[in-house]
Amino acid sequence: MSEPLKPAPYIRPKGEPRFPGGPAADPAGSHHERRIRSFQPRRSRVTTGQAEALERLWPQWGTDIDGLRTLDLDAMFDGLPVVLEIGFGMGEATAQMAADDPATGILATDVHTPGQGNLLRLAEQNGLSNIRVANGDAIILLREMLKPDSLTGLRVYFPDPWPKARHHKRRLIQPEFLDLAATRLAPGAVLHCATDWEPYAGQMLEVLTAHPDFVNTQEDGGYAPRPEFRPLTRFEGQGLDKGHVVQDLLFRRR
Ligand SMILES: C[S@@+](CC[C@H](N)C(=O)[O-])C[C@H]1O[C@@H](n2cnc3c(N)ncnc32)[C@H](O)[C@@H]1O
Repeated sequence: MSEPLKPAPYIRPKGEPRFPGGPAADPAGSHHERRIRSFQPRRSRVTTGQAEALERLWPQWGTDIDGLRTLDLDAMFDGLPVVLEIGFGMGEATAQMAADDPATGILATDVHTPGQGNLLRLAEQNGLSNIRVANGDAIILLREMLKPDSLTGLRVYFPDPWPKARHHKRRLIQPEFLDLAATRLAPGAVLHCATDWEPYAGQMLEVLTAHPDFVNTQEDGGYAPRPEFRPLTRFEGQGLDKGHVVQDLLFRRR
């Protein structure tokens, strides 16, 4: 007896979203290619609940980072001051901060599809209208889609540490990133970084201290005590379990 024929698997054309109506596969595509990326493209499993949230909630609360438009943050957030969070992971800490401070809008960006679905669900379940989720490379968002002086804060919590020396060029917190970030932050706005990777903490402190547009909020020029408003993040919890020491850095744009 011959085997029953299996239907041919559907091969999604490049750029077609995995979830109809949801985030695009590679929103900036080739027109804004960045050769060195601070993230690793991952094909992670998306749960049914996350997929449902991506398809249903993305059209209203999601934005693809296509690098082709300037975002009107005032219209998106009904005039709230807006903080950009780069790399929210699964989004639990983001949702907590949005709930704790409804007077601030959070533009939360990541490339991680399960996390985008998770954060949309958390926002809906908790009635958080001050979160928008951006899909794609935060560098393109900053460079191409945000107006100068448009952010009241920038949060980078536990960015990928890229521990191998040959990967250090992928680390987000570098002088060129700070040049760009400084132009998008309003004067006086705070850049808040946290990491559990000691050598990266040292690098952050060094490049931030040396940058002419930023000044340390700590008079002694060192790390900051962990601010109460920053919840424990998922990645941080994993670091603490391994005995890592967490450092916060808070620098103000001059
Ligand atoms: C190590 S995880 C930390 C996630 C979360 N902040 C936490 O503490 O649990 C870093 C996240 O940053 C995201 N990321 C790295 N570079 C990015 C970029 N250029 N634009 C947007 N997201 C980025 C990664 O996809 C990843 O989800």
